[in-house]
Amino acid sequence: MAQSIGVLTAGGDSPGLNAAIRAIGKSAIRSHDMTVLGFLDGFRGLMQNRYVRLDGDRLSGILTVGGTILGTGRDKPHKMDVGGEAMDMTGVMLENAAALGLDALVAIGGGGTQKNAHRLAGRGLPIITLPKTIDNDVWGTDATIGFDTALAIATEAVDRLHSTAHSHHRIIVVEIMGHNAGWLTLGAGLAGGADVILIPEIPYDLDRVVESIMDRRSAGSTFSIVAIAEGSRPMEYRRRQQELRAVIQAADGEQRDEARGALAALRAGAADHTTALRRSLEERTGLEARVTILGHVQRGGAPSANDRNLATTLGTEATRLITSGATDVMVAARAGSLVPVPLSDVAGKRKIVPLDHPWIDSARCLGISFGD
Ligand code: F6P
Repeated sequence: MAQSIGVLTAGGDSPGLNAAIRAIGKSAIRSHDMTVLGFLDGFRGLMQNRYVRLDGDRLSGILTVGGTILGTGRDKPHKMDVGGEAMDMTGVMLENAAALGLDALVAIGGGGTQKNAHRLAGRGLPIITLPKTIDNDVWGTDATIGFDTALAIATEAVDRLHSTAHSHHRIIVVEIMGHNAGWLTLGAGLAGGADVILIPEIPYDLDRVVESIMDRRSAGSTFSIVAIAEGSRPMEYRRRQQELRAVIQAADGEQRDEARGALAALRAGAADHTTALRRSLEERTGLEARVTILGHVQRGGAPSANDRNLATTLGTEATRLITSGATDVMVAARAGSLVPVPLSDVAGKRKIVPLDHPWIDSARCLGISFGD
């Protein structure tokens, strides 16, 4: 009997999502004679039974288009905001999937989506996921849909900031996305020739950053580009964070509440850390400094050729896996192959930049400072 599948996109959008939807839809219909439903706005669409039939017309002309034609959302099935209250809507989603006769669901998303999908699989919904995020931090895959495009956008920005920093003899601090992983900042910083690269994996010391800028000045360079990841923090912040986390783990009652409050205050105090860094660098170096926060521009627009091809191959592999009865797995790209990785291995983990990564090693060889 012909199978029926659902598709949804969840978490932050990224270039290449439509290429994945197209690949899943077209391969499901053409190669496996399946019916394909696209749920709108992530898991919320599955909960509210809001979907469209993905057919030839809807799947045409979307390969090169940014964003997601299905819409997305950051909802968690077990903690959905329903009328202002957090409710477990997993049961409703399972009922809707059963009523529609779905044989499987393909969820395209980042780390949070992998966790949510694993939970749904545990409740009996056959599910396959694809890794997507500009952050490149999904565990178990070499690449995620959207990273390559965002890397190119961030690199172009660093390139462009060079000429203006040079002309005005300024420090330009450029903040790059990536949540708690430094892939985008490290990649764009290295490709764009940044002078300082600050990533979450390497807590920085302001003195070292100042020192490297002053060294450049002594050598005749009156400008510097500092590429900083949004999740990057100074050493003293990390130390305090660790202390408070240890108290939260070990203590209880009032002491734990106090530590929780202090941790929340620490986080809130770091909300504008890039702007604070600019101010400190200006004061300490005597050079004029400016901040550029790239923000969501890194997630917009047409996907790169690499992202289109990654999304397309992951998407066609997902439908093939469904026909073989696979469930509770993510289709991963590993060493040039596509492999199903159990979601139990992926859920709850994050792929951060290893400190011995060749990009870090090369950058250090070139004299790029990590502020450590
Ligand atoms: O996960 C992708 C990402 O762009 C992160 O780099 C960033 O921290 C976050 O999403 C921003 O989320 P939002 O679009 O919800 O503000």
